[in-house]
Amino acid sequence: MVLSPGMYGDIDDDRAERAINAALDAGAVHVDTSDAYGADGHNERLVGRAVKGRREEVVVATKFGLAVPEGEGARSFPVGYSFGELRVNGEARLVRRYAERSLANLGIDAIDLYYAHYPDPGVPIEETVGAMAALVDDGLVRHLGLSNVTAEQLRRAHAVHPITAVQNEWSMWRPVDAGLLAAARELGVGVVAWSPLGNGFLTGSVRSLGEGDFRHNAPRFSAGNLSANNDRYAPIRDLAVDLGITPAQLALAWLLHQDEHVVAIPGSRTPAHIRENAAAAGFALHGDTLARIDRALTGFEVSGGTLL
Ligand SMILES: NC(=O)c1ccc[n+]([C@@H]2O[C@H](COP(=O)([O-])OP(=O)(O)OC[C@H]3O[C@@H](n4cnc5c(N)ncnc54)[C@H](OP(=O)(O)O)[C@@H]3O)[C@@H](O)[C@H]2O)c1
Repeated sequence: MVLSPGMYGDIDDDRAERAINAALDAGAVHVDTSDAYGADGHNERLVGRAVKGRREEVVVATKFGLAVPEGEGARSFPVGYSFGELRVNGEARLVRRYAERSLANLGIDAIDLYYAHYPDPGVPIEETVGAMAALVDDGLVRHLGLSNVTAEQLRRAHAVHPITAVQNEWSMWRPVDAGLLAAARELGVGVVAWSPLGNGFLTGSVRSLGEGDFRHNAPRFSAGNLSANNDRYAPIRDLAVDLGITPAQLALAWLLHQDEHVVAIPGSRTPAHIRENAAAAGFALHGDTLARIDRALTGFEVSGGTLL
């Protein structure tokens, strides 16, 4: 998502391709995109170019439902701060069209992991997933995923076709719903944590925002709140220093220790950050460190709302 214009500021295709290649070179094996990142499948086309010739190295995950074809209706629903109001169409009759468009953008024969990006409030999830299951039967898609769902929606969908992964926001400053985590564990569904670095906040390096940065819409990043949040986050930054790792690495390692089936998908345009983040997968955190983090997080009252 960070590699298409309109999100975190400065980016172009050369820089974006260097970033994806840096990730693959650093051992990343999971690339997450969506037909809604950038205009007209920009992000999927970028990923397609980057994985050409290295297709076997990488799980390609993409999503559908928000880039609604011209002339089709959609349901609006609020998602809170940064993304404002989104429009979604998860009607079964459109699902194959979405998939074929993504396959063409990506230039691949099959999508490894295909997610409904948001559940459509006007369509029973069983109907959307039923159409997704037909894509698996026809070999267009290998595994099914759901993003931004509740435990109940996951259970209903899983009864139609096995769900391989759920992708919801989860980081040190955005707890995941405990019921969703329990359902995923019970059903054997992997959990993919989006914005695992808290949109960059948890790296401890965001002091102000540049022009054109979508976080201007997020109350947690308003000037006053950002400064208060940085002050309150200091104990976690200090802990990272004690451990000899960076705050970003601590935030990612902490997530990977929450469950053996967690995958974190940090976004970055910067090869040095990407290598730093990839190295976090190799850090073992001891039980007493995890307890120290939990204590510090309990005292970390975030200014700027709790909504998505
Ligand atoms: N399913 C959904 O609805 C949904 C919603 C949002 C996001 N996502 C997925 O989750 C991915 C990640 O989310 P995100 O990009 O919003 O948030 P994120 O990964 O929590 O944070 C990204 C920000 O962190 C900075 N950063 C990354 N590593 C850093 C490091 N080591 N040191 C300093 N700064 C660092 C990046 O800046 P630099 O570029 O300068 O490194 C960027 O500004 C997206 O790319 C997307 O695939 C999914």
